Amino acid sequence: MLANKTVVLGVTGSIAAYKAADIASKLTQAGAEVRVVMTQPATRFISPLTLSTISHRPVVTSMWQLETEFSTEHVALAEAADVVVIAPATANIIAHLAAGMADDMLSCIVLATRAPVILAPAMNVNMFQNAITQQNLAKLKARGFVIVGPEYGRLASGKMGLGRLAEVEQILGTIKQVLGRKGDLADKHIVVTAGGTREPIDPVRHLGNHATGKMGHALALAARDRGARVRLITTAAPAETAGIEVSRVETAVQMKQAVVKAVAQADALIMAAAVADYRPRSIAKAKIKKETPSLTLELTRTPDILAEVTGDFIKIGFAAESEDIVTNARRKLKEKGLHLIMANDITDKDSGFGVDTNKVTIIDRSGKVESLPLLTKREVADRILDKVVGLLAKR
Ligand code: C5P
Repeated sequence: MLANKTVVLGVTGSIAAYKAADIASKLTQAGAEVRVVMTQPATRFISPLTLSTISHRPVVTSMWQLETEFSTEHVALAEAADVVVIAPATANIIAHLAAGMADDMLSCIVLATRAPVILAPAMNVNMFQNAITQQNLAKLKARGFVIVGPEYGRLASGKMGLGRLAEVEQILGTIKQVLGRKGDLADKHIVVTAGGTREPIDPVRHLGNHATGKMGHALALAARDRGARVRLITTAAPAETAGIEVSRVETAVQMKQAVVKAVAQADALIMAAAVADYRPRSIAKAKIKKETPSLTLELTRTPDILAEVTGDFIKIGFAAESEDIVTNARRKLKEKGLHLIMANDITDKDSGFGVDTNKVTIIDRSGKVESLPLLTKREVADRILDKVVGLLAKR
């Protein structure tokens, strides 16, 4: 995704400039070519040497820097960029860009580039909330700039407020989303469910399962990185959700309600969640006391979301099995009216709950069985999405 992409990383004069080192490092590790361009004030907060060492490239700090290979042609970077990211972006650079000014290298590049531009503002809360900054951001947004953050939190002044640089993972996610916009799932609506549902017993306790949501989260991120509009319905929060619409739910009934709402405009539904099959018939209003010598819970069936939700979309399910894997999965594919089912052996230590790998067998409507080797959940997600692309093309 980031491999061999040229990312122009603009760094401006905010105390959050030190976080640009982390961004440059993670981008470089992911295989991107990172070209750092700093404004003069940024060099007061973090040394160009740090960013040049991390990015393995010279850092541009001035228009008149004859020793760099870019000095004679300031548009070269603008043309080379697959994406320009300014993190942190101060109120000052935002104002310069909104006014179309080009009085330093970074603003020249932004004005000259045809690549998408991402801004990650970081500043004092009052500067951020100032109507002028807000108008500038709105103007840039209307022109196609992508804004990530800022977040609420402790600011350099020691006060709490809106103005903190977005989390580095969120900034990286935004870069991936923007780079993937024209991917093979561009503009497709994909609904993904993730995590294990929790069915309350009383205000303290619930019935749950071991699912962590990793497979579903990998699917949501992979679909986002391939251009899809993703709605993730999950019981657990993923590390980053840039560009993903997230619905947090707890129970099977809540998950069903969210799925029904989301599939109205979906091209595909992928149910990776481990949905409870039973829930307590009634939820105790007060905590059940342990003085009660024994306790019997009466359970009732939850809705089978995948079987009950129907419509004109591709329907994909998972079958966690411990025996007769293919036979059971085939039966479920038929009973639930699925296009594909991913069967996995939960007794296998590499494909169980909470691990980053999975070994699945993909079964389609024609009965074709394809056993994938042990892969990371992200790789499995991409294999499944390859199938989704094929199925959508046939519709
Ligand atoms: O029947 P089984 O629970 O094995 O089916 C697994 C598949 O069905 C998964 O995709 C799961 O998300 C979905 N499911 C559901 N509603 C349930 C139980 C499972 O949608 N109540």
